[in-house]
Amino acid sequence: MASFASNNYPLVFFFVLFSLAMRLAHGTNYAPTLFIFGDSTFDVGTNNFLNSKAKANFPYNGIDFYPPFPTGRFSNGFNTADQIARQFGYKQSPPPFLTLEKDQYSLKKNILKGVNFASGGSGILRETGHSEWGEVVFFERQVEQFASVGGNISEMLGHAQAAKFVSKALFLISVGSNDIFDYARNDSGSIHLGAEEYLAVVQLTYYSHIKKLYELGARKFGIISVATVGCCPAVSSLNGGKCVEPLNDFAVAFYLATQALLQKLSSELKGFKYSLGNSFEMTSTLLKSPSSFGLKYTQSACCGIGYLNGQGGCIKAQNANLCTNRNEFLFWDWFHPTEIASLLAAKTLFEGDKEFVTPVNLRQLAYSY
Ligand SMILES: *[C@@H]1O[C@H](CO)[C@@H](O)[C@H](O)[C@H]1NC(C)=O
Ligand SMILES: *[C@@H]1O[C@H](CO)[C@@H](O)[C@H](O)[C@H]1NC(C)=O
Repeated sequence: MASFASNNYPLVFFFVLFSLAMRLAHGTNYAPTLFIFGDSTFDVGTNNFLNSKAKANFPYNGIDFYPPFPTGRFSNGFNTADQIARQFGYKQSPPPFLTLEKDQYSLKKNILKGVNFASGGSGILRETGHSEWGEVVFFERQVEQFASVGGNISEMLGHAQAAKFVSKALFLISVGSNDIFDYARNDSGSIHLGAEEYLAVVQLTYYSHIKKLYELGARKFGIISVATVGCCPAVSSLNGGKCVEPLNDFAVAFYLATQALLQKLSSELKGFKYSLGNSFEMTSTLLKSPSSFGLKYTQSACCGIGYLNGQGGCIKAQNANLCTNRNEFLFWDWFHPTEIASLLAAKTLFEGDKEFVTPVNLRQLAYSY
């Protein structure tokens, strides 16, 4: 007598076929390739290669990796680039371009899996970060590096396939905070411009580099705006623990200008799609009610020195303080979020609603159109 199981063979077979067909039909539902640009919020080791003061390849950074390891991320563990990549099912961010470039064999082997170009301390303007941090890879140079990667991809896949590949990839950009910090510090004498004028210069520069990426074949842009920079411990520790409102106002103005910029780009450039994350709104919401996000400490950094741990970096060799309850802190060090805060941000960017991410979230940008 035929067994129950064998009776079901056609059914099982059909089911397998059906799943296969669904996977084909939803072929776009695989993780998109990520090309990542910006500053220390996204840097996963670029600056390890530079003669820069904006570095994090020493303890206690990376203390929550297993085993603890300082990779160059400004975080106790994964940073926001990693956490976004993880939302898409990756283990972490793709590796830094400067790591891949050192070994052309591994470059060839890995570039189709994405590349991270972000560099701590960098900004939209070429000179941003330079006087404070020394060598950084500014945004324009990151775009040039992508151009070379794009050339490599074309060589590997042929022109038409490469264009298709790049058009489906997600271009994540988190930049702008350092341009604002530089202005506030009057680095490179930027203060001779009024704030509005300076913002206009920054945005014009942003426009031309995003457009350049489009010309290189990019179509899907995930842009992260500037958070409440006036509230980070490096700034508030100089202001009696209070946020510095003019800096926050600048961040809001930056967001609004970026929104207008992206609307302009999508009206000018065929097939240009974007998702704009409002980090300012996300952080403000969190600051109003930390406990509803599981956080307790939003003023002082977990790791650092001086008032609010905001008067120097998280450098174990310089006797930095270190908290134990890292999952209760918004700030890891004087400028950067903890791994858990980065996770909260990434989740919102990935699947949040229009209050925080517009006109679509990253998941919709990647999969739905
Ligand atoms: C990638 O492109 C750069 C710039 O054109 C070139 O120097 C390099 O040799 C290429 N690498 C590979 C593996 O094709
Ligand atoms: C800003 O920097 C420039 C050039 O270094 C200097 O001439 C100017 O006085 C500074 N302005 C302020 C307000 O500090």
